[in-house]
Parts: sequence; structure tokens; C-alpha cells
Amino acid sequence: MVQVIYPGTFDPVTNGHVNIVERAAALFDQVVIAVARNEKKMPLFNLDERIALLEQSLRHLTHIKVVGLQMLLTHFMRENGIYTVLRGLRVVSDFEYEFQLSNMNKAIEPKMETIFLPTDEKHGYISSSLVKEIASLQGDTHTFVPPAVSRALRAKYPA
Ligand code: COA
Repeated sequence: MVQVIYPGTFDPVTNGHVNIVERAAALFDQVVIAVARNEKKMPLFNLDERIALLEQSLRHLTHIKVVGLQMLLTHFMRENGIYTVLRGLRVVSDFEYEFQLSNMNKAIEPKMETIFLPTDEKHGYISSSLVKEIASLQGDTHTFVPPAVSRALRAKYPA
């Protein structure tokens, strides 16, 4: 069984992330979505909320598993015996950070490989922070995020 880990903060999951998972699901036998606690990013949604939103947003897919990531990604790889990591690339500026992340992980765990999927061009401008900013100012987010996320954002920022 060929498995891949798709790690991220997913605060919250956007249509861009969903598109990456949909395409990965066609390439791998199982996609393990690892939701990093990432307190340094001071997430709007807690870990359980982010996991629940991903599960609701990916209900149409099979062979998907959503789990919390509360350790180093490389330790998670060893614990699960999965050494392939998937990341989406939106724009050229993403590459610098992704290249560093990939090389740092590989320095810790030489067996790991990173696979990059280009984000679909219609989602290339979406980011979780921009979506949160729009919601915080009572803007409509439904074209950028799955319906469950749009509802959850409205609940976080009631009018
Ligand atoms: N479509 C839309 N947006 C996308 C996207 C896509 N396909 N791919 C990435 N993004 C955006 C997100 O919306 C998010 O936007 P924001 O910066 O405005 O919040 C940003 O890109 C990145 O977020 P995300 O995809 O959730 O991932 P991340 O960069 O926060 O993830 C980890 C980082 C989790 C991979 C990294 O911190 C990690 O591995 N942590 C575990 C601990 C560890 O091992 N640390 C050492 C690493 S060497």
C-alpha cells in the first residue's frame, strides 16, 4: 500500500488544500492528513476543530485519514512507517520555505522524500490567513473554503 503524509496547520482547511487531497487520493492508496498543533501560529481553530473541519470537508473521498500531529514530522514518519510527504505549491515564493522544510526534514530522516503538487491555478491566491481576515471583517468566504468551514468562520466572528 503506497501511503503519503500531507502535513499542515490547516487553520482552516481551504478549497486549495481540498484540491490537493483530491488529486493525491487518485495517486496514492491512502492519504494521511497530519494536522500540526503549531501553537506558534496561534491558530484560530483548536486542533480538534481543525481535524473535524477537515473530516467534514473530505467526506466525499475514501482512503483518507485525518490525524493530529503533536510531534516532529520525522518522528511521525518513523512511528507510522510512511516516508513520503506531500506539499502543495501555490506560487514561486512558496518554494523557498518548502525547499528549506524538505531539506531540514531530510537531514533528520534521510529516508524521507517530499512530493510537490502544483496548486490548481484557480486556488493559487487562497490562503488561510486571508480567509480569516475576510471572515473577521464580516466578508463572505464561501467561494474559498468548504461549506462547513464557512459556517465555522461565521460562528467565530458573529455579526
Ligand atoms: N491551497 C491554498 N492554500 C494553501 C495551499 C493550497 N494548496 N497550500 C498551502 N496553503 C497555504 C495555507 O492556506 C496557509 O496559509 P497562511 O500562511 O495564510 O496560514 C499556508 O499556505 C501554509 O499552511 P499549511 O498548508 O496549513 O501548512 P504549514 O506551512 O502551516 O505547515 C508544517 C507546516 C505543519 C508542515 C510544519 O510546521 C511541520 O512539519 N510541523 C511539525 C513539527 C515539525 O516537524 N517541525 C520541524 C519542521 S523541519
